[in-house]
Amino acid sequence: MSKKYLYSLMAVLVAAATALSACGPAATAAPTAAPAATSAPAATSAPAATAAPAFAVGVVLPTKNEPRWIQDETRFNDAFKAAGYTVQILFSDGDSAKEKANVEALISQGIKVLIICPQDAAAAGAAVDEAHAAGIKVISYDRLIRDTASVDYYVTFDSVSVGKAQAQYLVDHATGTKNPLYLYAGAATDNNAFLFFEGAWDVLQPKIADGTFVIKNSDKAVGLQGSATLTRDQEGTIIGQVTTDWKFDTAKNLAEANLTAAKASDKGNVFILAPNDGTARAIADTFGADKDVKSYVITGQDAEEASIQYIIDGKQSMTVLKDVRTLVKDAIAAAVDYLTGKTPPQTTTYNNGKVDVPASPSPIVSVDKSNVKAAVIDSGYWPAGDFKNLP
Ligand code: BGC
Repeated sequence: MSKKYLYSLMAVLVAAATALSACGPAATAAPTAAPAATSAPAATSAPAATAAPAFAVGVVLPTKNEPRWIQDETRFNDAFKAAGYTVQILFSDGDSAKEKANVEALISQGIKVLIICPQDAAAAGAAVDEAHAAGIKVISYDRLIRDTASVDYYVTFDSVSVGKAQAQYLVDHATGTKNPLYLYAGAATDNNAFLFFEGAWDVLQPKIADGTFVIKNSDKAVGLQGSATLTRDQEGTIIGQVTTDWKFDTAKNLAEANLTAAKASDKGNVFILAPNDGTARAIADTFGADKDVKSYVITGQDAEEASIQYIIDGKQSMTVLKDVRTLVKDAIAAAVDYLTGKTPPQTTTYNNGKVDVPASPSPIVSVDKSNVKAAVIDSGYWPAGDFKNLP
């Protein structure tokens, strides 16, 4: 997003915020550089705030326990700060009750647009129903909120493609037959876990059917391996057995339990579908410590700095770059569309169990050692100085 474009976005946000409330942005939130050529009231002319400043847009993110969401916070702050403003970003600490309280706090501050990444896809329904009832536009951010009509728009990456890219990497690195395959999934409360698994199954199932891979850690998946496509319930059965719950410890414990149950002949040169970077590092460390595992190919997602270093060091095979700068830009642009009476762009819809939610998913990039420098350093995503031994 160009600076000039951001300035006009911010001008709209501030105009809406000041129109909404008698209390304008706090003095500390005043822009350092005035937005150029705009009819929006200058923030500096707003009355000094004594209470919390009112923003037209509020952001709610799920947890600070994973680098992924801290990254989103940073990149949201960067995007707003570039124009001299702050934005209210609240974290739900992995707790749907806290998430609802956060949404209620933003409603009482008079926001007009809510950008929310749900901790739990179904539980978030009640919170966004309240927001919608208050006339607020709801943008589901990265994860889809399910079973409610109160979602206006979905800002997302193409999550089915994420799963496909992970599975394709495993397929491309397997030779011969009977390669041991270990499957892991995200949290069953996260709709994305289903989309990632759907994409992965699409690519892996034919390669299980033709004998390239043999599933070693899920009798539920083995029971369904003849089915090219799975229903959501069938996906749920497998995910329930191989879920990491998006937690490093759960991932590590499950990998340990799987390796304890497996015979030495189920190990050797193994292939591991790991759903994201945090769980991939935990699972990779566990497999790497098993004396019967000779080599492993393991997937990931998020291009977290720690995983980029793992890839450089040969401890994680790949990751999927989902450029959060794009997601943040799309979310802010959609919010501004709503604030200015427009409709955000739509190329497809996602059914959330109740309604078809409009979306325009962003593409993803598969990253391994061979393109890590081009994809994440040269693109400006992470600074080269944060890594050792870059190829
Ligand atoms: C996100 C991933 C993330 C995972 C765990 C998913 O919904 O799309 O990027 O790694 O949640 O937080």
